[in-house]
Amino acid sequence: MVVKNICCLGAGYVGGPTCSVIASKCPEIKVTVVDKSVTRIAQWNSEKLPIYEPGLDEIVKARRGKNLFFSNNIEKAILEADLIFISVNTPTKTFGNGKGRAADLKYVEGAARMIADIAKSNKIVVEKSTVPVRAAESIMNILKANNEPGVSYQILSNPEFLAEGTAIQDLMHPDRVLIGGEETPEGQLAIEELCSIYEHWIPRKSILTTNTWSSELSKLAANAMLAQRISSINSLSAVCEATGADVSEVAVAIGLDSRIGPKFLQASIGGSCFQKDILNLVYICESLSLPEVAAYWQQVIDMNEYQKTRFTAKVVQSLFNTVSGKNITLLGFAFKKNTGDTRESPAIHVAKTLLDEGASLNIYDPKVEESQILYDLTHPSICESPEEVKKLVKIYPDAYSATNGAHAVVICTEWDEFVTLDYREIYRSMMKPAYIFDGRKILDHEELINIGFHVQTIGKRLPRPLSTRMWSGTAVV
Ligand code: NAI
Repeated sequence: MVVKNICCLGAGYVGGPTCSVIASKCPEIKVTVVDKSVTRIAQWNSEKLPIYEPGLDEIVKARRGKNLFFSNNIEKAILEADLIFISVNTPTKTFGNGKGRAADLKYVEGAARMIADIAKSNKIVVEKSTVPVRAAESIMNILKANNEPGVSYQILSNPEFLAEGTAIQDLMHPDRVLIGGEETPEGQLAIEELCSIYEHWIPRKSILTTNTWSSELSKLAANAMLAQRISSINSLSAVCEATGADVSEVAVAIGLDSRIGPKFLQASIGGSCFQKDILNLVYICESLSLPEVAAYWQQVIDMNEYQKTRFTAKVVQSLFNTVSGKNITLLGFAFKKNTGDTRESPAIHVAKTLLDEGASLNIYDPKVEESQILYDLTHPSICESPEEVKKLVKIYPDAYSATNGAHAVVICTEWDEFVTLDYREIYRSMMKPAYIFDGRKILDHEELINIGFHVQTIGKRLPRPLSTRMWSGTAVV
């Protein structure tokens, strides 16, 4: 079989960009991305796409209506497809067994049942969602138990390693593509079919093929190892603040060791999109009766929580231990720059703590919609009184209006535009003493201190503004 028709179930942060790149690199293949959500598909078919990724708009515009389609007609797309990507969400379970840790596979299961109900010809089903090890077995069980006579399936694992904010770049030039499949002749054939799609733009040596379980576990392992690096440097940032060392200097010094390497050693406010996958890994380890392994990875998550709590506590403490009635500006709400995604964003944690302490919040993010911010902050897991939150939170269209009259500014996302703001102007319009808490270590702290700001950041002690020092040189904020 030569794949001519691809269907992708799930038009999200992974399904949308991945299939747009496939359509752009394989013009002879028809790619249809389907979703249950009518709104999401309408957005994919509009001028304003539902997600922001640098470079995505151009690709979608070039291929949409030619060999790239976004549709709610799931049945038609499944019937036509030779190969189906399952790219649906796998959030953390919020109830029942494994609540708060295990991956909720209800959407993956729903997708598998839909395929089984609809398919009338052989399909290669590709698990792109991040799933627990041996999820492919469950998908196969569903497909086999429900399939039409004469229809056969091959299940592949093809986890996605893209990072939001750089999705298109990551998809165009991946470090590797990983494909896991059955070690049978049919399994190997299916792997080859998927390889031939990626080989349109990725050198064969960068396409790694493994057995299904190695592929599934590798995705969780990669995220766990990345998160571990961040938690490690964040733990050291606390030591830096307590001793006078500078975590940026430490990161450079250790990153120059080729066994360690320089990437992913940026200390920050904490929070990342890895949490749900590591929670899932911890849960799997517990289920496999490996409590020591589970505890080891749990500590990576705990350190991430500690970092967020530590940072927010510092904000409250610096503002004379009370933020009640004070106006605090959050610059940035997305979990990282160049995306509008707020899932697991540290800004939510910061906002919640400050709201609990009675602060009024002014929030500005270049790409997150007002409705999303209010949705996140009024979610039942975050607040008990949505009306109260709505009274205390105001969303602004730019950084200057958001900081006007504020007691403090907290940098929650490392958007480039925050680096080049006119901080003299911002200082003039703020209440005094004016505070900046740089949770992302992106600002020129010396310049801010010279302007007159009280500045706090992660992993480094900073001097007070000159005008407030009682004696020179030694005082710290
Ligand atoms: P998402 O929440 O943005 O998109 C998932 C979409 O699937 C939603 O639009 C939902 O309506 C749709 N959906 C659910 N069930 C469906 C069904 N039966 N039929 C059709 N559509 C259905 O999720 P996202 O971020 O794209 O993640 C997808 C998977 O990829 C997850 O397992 C995630 O862990 C993994 N992943 C995500 C990355 C990221 O940076 N967002 C990176 C690498 C992997």
